[in-house]
Amino acid sequence: MRKVHRVLIVGVGSIGERHARCFAATGRAAVSICEVNAELRWIVADRYSIAETFADLDAGLASRPEVVVICTPAHRHVPMALAAVRAGAHVLIEKPLATGFDGVDELIRESCDRTVGVAYVYRSHPALAAMREAIRSGRFGEPVQVVAQCGQHFPFYRPAYRTIYYNDRATGGGAVQDALTHIVNAAEWLVDPVDRLVADVGHQVLDGVTVEDTVHVLTRHGRVMGCFNLNQHQAPNETTLTVVCQRGTVRFEAHECRWRWAIEPGAPWTDEATPTLERDALFVRQAGAFLDAVEGTSAVACPLADARQTLAVNLAILRSAERGGWETIADNP
Ligand SMILES: NC(=O)c1ccc[n+]([C@@H]2O[C@H](COP(=O)([O-])OP(=O)(O)OC[C@H]3O[C@@H](n4cnc5c(N)ncnc54)[C@H](O)[C@@H]3O)[C@@H](O)[C@H]2O)c1
Repeated sequence: MRKVHRVLIVGVGSIGERHARCFAATGRAAVSICEVNAELRWIVADRYSIAETFADLDAGLASRPEVVVICTPAHRHVPMALAAVRAGAHVLIEKPLATGFDGVDELIRESCDRTVGVAYVYRSHPALAAMREAIRSGRFGEPVQVVAQCGQHFPFYRPAYRTIYYNDRATGGGAVQDALTHIVNAAEWLVDPVDRLVADVGHQVLDGVTVEDTVHVLTRHGRVMGCFNLNQHQAPNETTLTVVCQRGTVRFEAHECRWRWAIEPGAPWTDEATPTLERDALFVRQAGAFLDAVEGTSAVACPLADARQTLAVNLAILRSAERGGWETIADNP
């Protein structure tokens, strides 16, 4: 019999409800929820037969949960995570880590004897993890270029986009902090962290908001050159992340749930088989991996230091787009 952990989900909007369902699906979590919106709190508790519910974080933390999952808008992540760590909990924080650096280093310092990570869910994708292993084995040679091409019709997947955190950069909105951050974090996991970049962002299509919905970024990750393109309005839902190495090219295709590689010039791709993952399955894997980390049987998938680096990239992209010109990712921004 595996241990059952007491897991408090904070904020049960779109992703919080998914975490409540997916932590429960591991069979290793007794889930409680904390949500300020009374009607939503009742609906989610009823839907998943959750007995313990709280109207605010203090009340939730007073119940002494072992694990807290922070699913509120991004500007609330760090103060809530600090409160949870101070209450003795292990903490999984939704992406992005924050919208600025206030409290981030304090959180990192105070988390040293807890398991704390950020839910960059691509790190739980078996195809991406397998591709990373293949790159790191050296069989394709050193990476020299990373290219991301991503698009999704955000209003189709999130019809409420005008009225949620997405409509304001201060609450984590816009394509950079909402969507591109996943891809940047994945690329930094595959190759090296971004050390400088130049960006162009625009509001091109989405009705009812003024935040950017289209982004182009050129990056340097040490010797590796990078190029990231993303929009949140095209019809096809496609995310590809290609790493060109000295002796071969590898590509992750999230929408096909696969990775593939090519070595001989002009030859077709060789596809590596990965079972198709239905969307919850990725989040169940992420939840299980976080509980493994809490139990000390594996490392946390995305530690705070990695998420802090991706936060620095998010903010540098927005700065570059505003000022024009290259930005350096400093250690102490
Ligand atoms: N990993 C992913 O694929 C993914 C997908 C969607 C959202 N997210 C991230 O998750 C976070 C939340 O996004 P969302 O789409 O679920 O937003 P949402 O607006 O649907 O839900 C946020 C919920 O938090 C609640 N809340 C706000 N303040 C609270 C407080 N003080 N105490 C308790 N509850 C509080 C709100 O009432 C709301 O129900 C964002 O950072 C977003 O970027 C990640």
